[in-house]
Order: sequence, then C-alpha cells, then structure tokens
Amino acid sequence: MNYNKLFEKIYQSLGNTENLGQVASYIPELKNVNPHKFGVHLTTLNDKHYSFGDSDEKFSIQSIAKVLALVLAYQLEDEKLWERVGVEPSGTPFNSLVQLEYDKGIPRNPLINAGALVISDILVGHFEDPKKHFIEFVRKVSGISGIDYSSRIADSEKSTGYTNAALANLMKSFGNIRNDIDTVLDFYFSLCSIEMTCRELSRTFLFLADYGVCPYSKERMISTSKSKRINAIMQLCGFYDEAGEFSFKVGLPGKSGVGGGIIAIHPNKYSIAVWSPRLNAKGNSILGMKFLELFTTATKASIF
Ligand code: DON
Repeated sequence: MNYNKLFEKIYQSLGNTENLGQVASYIPELKNVNPHKFGVHLTTLNDKHYSFGDSDEKFSIQSIAKVLALVLAYQLEDEKLWERVGVEPSGTPFNSLVQLEYDKGIPRNPLINAGALVISDILVGHFEDPKKHFIEFVRKVSGISGIDYSSRIADSEKSTGYTNAALANLMKSFGNIRNDIDTVLDFYFSLCSIEMTCRELSRTFLFLADYGVCPYSKERMISTSKSKRINAIMQLCGFYDEAGEFSFKVGLPGKSGVGGGIIAIHPNKYSIAVWSPRLNAKGNSILGMKFLELFTTATKASIF
C-alpha cells in the first residue's frame, strides 16, 4: 500500500484546524515553535518509507525520550527495576505530585515525570558520564550519528523546572532518588531536550516493532520479552491520563511529548512518527492523535 497518498488525504480531511490547541508554553523555548508545522513519517520493517509535510524538520521530542531511557535502565537493572517504579497507568497528569505521597515515593510508571526521574537517577548512578553514554545509546539504536541534545531547550526547561524539582525532592525524602538532585534533574532536562525529525524518530523506534532487534543493523537491543513489556507500558501509560483515549481511538502502543511529537508502534509492521505542536489540555498533540486515529481506521490495522 502506498501510504503517501493516504497521508495527504487524511491531512486534507482534518479541515480547518486553525484554532485547535496551543503549543506548550511552560518551557519558554517551546513557545517559539511554529504552531502550524505538521509532519509524519512511517518506516516499515522492510525499510519502506512514507512521509508527508514537515517530516524532515527537527523538533524537541521531550517525553518520547523517556522510553529510550527506560530501555537502557531496564537493560541494566532487569526485573529489579520494578522495585523502584510501577507498571500501572497513573490516570493523572504527566507532572502530578498527588499520588507520590500516598505511594511512598514509588511512581506509578516510568513514563510520568516522577517515573522518568527515577529512571534518570538509575542512569546517573550507573555511568561516569551519563549524558554521553545515553546519547551514544540513542545514536546506536537509531543508527544516526547526528542525533543530539539541545542545550538551548534543556537550559530553558531548567529555568522553570520547579515541578520536576518538587517531584525529585519528594522522592528523595522517601529514598527513591539516590544521587544528587541537581545532577539528576540536569540529566532529565537533557534527556527531554533531544531533537529529531519524524523520519529519525520513526527509525529510532523501529526496534520495538521488531521484538527488540534493529532491523537495519540486525543488532538485538533488548530481549523479546523486554520489548513486549516496553510496548505494554507505552500502551497503558504513554499518554498519561489520556492513555485510554489513545488506545480506544488508535489501538497502537505509543508515546507523546510536549514538543507535539507522537511515536506509535505496530509490532511486526512499522513505526510511525507524527509531529504537530499544538497540544490539548493533557499535553498531547491534538492533530497527531487525530491523524493516527484516522490512519489506523483507514488501514483497518491496529493491534486489536
Ligand atoms: O518534564 C517535563 O515537563 C517535560 N520535559 C516533558 C513532559 C512531556 O513531554 C509530557 N508529554 N506529553
């Protein structure tokens, strides 16, 4: 099937989207992004590529990078990881503090901010130069040497990152952050600042469609069982308190970021990245979600 034509048709069917949602503004640098950008790129396991719009323009992948940090931490910790972070959907916003006190500093899952901060703490504790090690891991998974952090975005988030500092401090008081808080936050803000195009993002996540093996290098990144579990966590927790809605409408495991990106995986088939910066109140890309809903509906293919 030639998805290029379908992409265009779906985009046209979205109609007038002028007044839908807003770009993230709590990270000052993200306010400067053109709200009307739209890109999509799909990569199949047999290296077919389909794209539309601004698919070769870099954007801030934000929380999507939490999945890659989780993959690396899971490799290092194996099942011990789940002593420090859960695998349950939170049903709360991505930056919520409310459950953390009741749950004695153990985040419900690794994709909410609290959970990603615990994952960051694990990586900071493991490596002498965690930022260097992590970006090299991302480059290996993607096979793209040019992928990097944006210090501009990381510094911008650091300047207003009070809620993440509160989450880290609360968890530290329960003993679930073990390293220096500023070092953990610094790593976390860098992690979230990684920039990719839709083409790069879809290629980076292809190993999760191929049961843990990078289809282009044939290198196994993670076991089949771990790949299954990462996909399961994305399905249940990837969109925070909108994870049910995304499952219901799109029917694929996926992950969003406040930069407006979404990655979705069709195991054994493809990975698809969409980018549209305007967000709904839950911090997820409005057009990205709608586009994916129309795509899996038109192709009659999802995991269900
Ligand atoms: O910590 C934050 O708030 C951001 N760096 C990441 C949040 C995010 O991407 C939520 N996703 N939709």
